Order: sequence, then C-alpha cells, then structure tokens
Amino acid sequence: MSSKKADPQVTIDLMERADLPEILAIERESFSSPWTPGMFAEELENKLAQCLVIRIISEGKSVIVAYIIFRLIADEAHLHNLAVKKEFKRQGLAQSLMETMKDIVMQVGICARTLEVRESNKEAISLYRKCGFVVKGRRPLYYTDTHEDALIMWADK
Ligand SMILES: CC(C)(COP(=O)(O)OP(=O)(O)OC[C@H]1O[C@@H](n2cnc3c(N)ncnc32)[C@H](O)[C@@H]1OP(=O)(O)O)[C@@H](O)C(=O)NCCC(=O)NCCS
Repeated sequence: MSSKKADPQVTIDLMERADLPEILAIERESFSSPWTPGMFAEELENKLAQCLVIRIISEGKSVIVAYIIFRLIADEAHLHNLAVKKEFKRQGLAQSLMETMKDIVMQVGICARTLEVRESNKEAISLYRKCGFVVKGRRPLYYTDTHEDALIMWADK
C-alpha cells in the first residue's frame, strides 16, 4: 500500500468571524500597532469591504496563512490590511492576494487602486512596486507610534 501524502491544498476564501483568532495572531506578529478585534469586525460588517484569507489544508488540518482587506469606494479600491504568517513569507502569497484584489476590482470596473505604507517598510514597498504601484504622495508623520511618514501609492492598470 502506498503511504504517499496528499499535497497541501491552498485556497483563497472569504474571511469569517471564526477566523479572527488565527488572523489576530498573524496581525500581532506583523505590526507594531496591530488592529484590534473590533477593527476586523467592523471590516467584516462593512458592505464596501472585501476580506479574504489564504488557507492551507493539509492532512485534514486547515491553517490561515495570509489575509487581505480592501474597500471599494466609488471608483477606487483602497487597501486596508495585508499580512502573511511569518513561516509562510516569501512564497508568493501576498502577491497572489494582490492579484486577486486586482481581479475583483477590475470585475466591477475599477482600475485605480491605492494604499498607504510606512516609509521604512521596505518589503511591502518592494511587493507593491512589483504589483505595479508607484509612489504618488506622502503623509508627513502619519504614524503616531513612530512619527513616520506614510507613502501613498497608486496603481491604475
Ligand atoms: C510585506 C508582506 C505582506 C509580503 O508578503 P510575502 O508573502 O512574503 O510576499 P511575496 O512572497 O508575495 O513577495 C512578492 C514580492 O514582494 C517583494 N518582497 C517580499 N518580501 C520581501 C523582502 N523581505 N525583501 C525584499 N522584497 C520583498 C519581492 O519583490 C517579492 O518578489 P520575489 O520573491 O520574486 O523577489 C509580508 O512581509 C508581511 O506580512 N509583512 C508584515 C505586514 C506588512 O508589512 N504588511 C503590509 C502593510 S502596508
């Protein structure tokens, strides 16, 4: 009899309230000023918000490894949150969520996508550049914890 293990299955699903404990753990390891449970709950209830998770399912066990939250506001899409669990970084998961965001917003006729990022967050800036975003502005001292500027990035195709 073969003992070969099945390959892990990777899915992109809508975020649910039941996912919040796993998401909050990723959020807390990812950010110096993490979102609170209430901030995630607000996004889940907001009709303009799209909240997605990547799950890896292996041997009957499901683990959330990344998530993205963005809002469709008039003719623009605003990225609100994106993070990848530490041990799963650098495997293309964030890029895949950014591509899914692009697909969803284009399906509803939106091209313009925007986000704010800490000037010191080199990995995120590099990801966003790879996804076609360019720096178009700056919000001085935007982050109150570090008094850092936010870069405002846009992509339109
Ligand atoms: C930024 C973040 C979301 C990237 O997630 P990831 O799944 O590791 O990124 P990907 O594997 O999809 O990388 C895609 C591209 O982004 C860039 N990138 C990602 N991590 C990088 C790093 N540590 N250094 C340099 N470039 C990086 C590269 O261009 C990479 O392409 P490559 O691997 O072909 O070189 C992840 O590091 C993270 O969760 N950081 C903490 C939370 C955060 O800062 N979120 C963004 C808030 S604005």
